[in-house]
Amino acid sequence: VIKQVSTIREKMQALRCSGKRIGFVPTMGALHEGHLQLLRASARENDITVCSIFVNPTQFNNPNDYKLYPRTSEQDIRLLQSVNCDYLFLPDAQEVYTQQSLLKFSFGELETVMEGEHRPGHFNGVATIVSKLFHYTLPHKAYFGQKDLQQVAIVRQLVQALSFDLELVCYPTVREESGLAMSSRNERLSSEQRQIAADLYKALKMAAAMLPEKPVQSVKKEVADYLKSRDQIELEYFEVADPATLQPVQDVKNAKEVALCLAAQVGPVRLIDNLLVNLN
Ligand code: PAJ
Repeated sequence: VIKQVSTIREKMQALRCSGKRIGFVPTMGALHEGHLQLLRASARENDITVCSIFVNPTQFNNPNDYKLYPRTSEQDIRLLQSVNCDYLFLPDAQEVYTQQSLLKFSFGELETVMEGEHRPGHFNGVATIVSKLFHYTLPHKAYFGQKDLQQVAIVRQLVQALSFDLELVCYPTVREESGLAMSSRNERLSSEQRQIAADLYKALKMAAAMLPEKPVQSVKKEVADYLKSRDQIELEYFEVADPATLQPVQDVKNAKEVALCLAAQVGPVRLIDNLLVNLN
């Protein structure tokens, strides 16, 4: 477990110089099977696996969400040992942000929709921390989850724009048996709310089944109506988007694949989920 930026830098530089392949899994902790899948893949595909756990203040647009984000580092360390993770970078906020970060990124149309639109400043914070972490850990491969589809697109653009010398790897969303996408924030749900939250996935599946036949606008309306009838769910958005550009798709006639994306408040937490649908 390394807490200092200078130490992780030295370690990773030495490993990279000695020819080791480094896999990196950035996280905010409260680890679950979604994270562990990425860590196992990294352990398989690289000589060394580094995980970071850092609840990054600059990507939270809601101070309460930051304050209440689950922090379970002792249990996380045990889980990391179980998947043969070699290094955990576990800094505190002052270590990473020695002064206020004034950097401003722009990701063009990628950040004008969905999470970019509804969480002002969120992707700026993500891009800032991910850039810093890439500099510290010097990975050959960095692992991300499809659960945060727009984040993957943003990080892909970041890697390309800033010439990070690494390969981005994306793994599918891991779900509970109920279909609910695993998320650290699920820990803040009661067991009843967890059951209710599984309706988000049901809504995505329902939309996927309707899409080949029905117009996008009526699918959107049916999803909104379905979720409106559910107690404790407040839909923020549901979009049918192009999986590469994340721009809204009005008509699926010429689309090969679409991403169905939603965000909703369920009880005390805001959840996101998505489903890629092949239309061939
Ligand atoms: P966090 O939410 O902890 O997620 C860390 C990584 O695990 C992300 O790439 C996320 O997409 C992936 N992940 C989360 N839940 C998943 C699931 N159910 N199935 C598959 N993958 C899943 O995303 C962040 O942290 C932060 O924004 C971060 C990139 C660490 C920057 O602070």
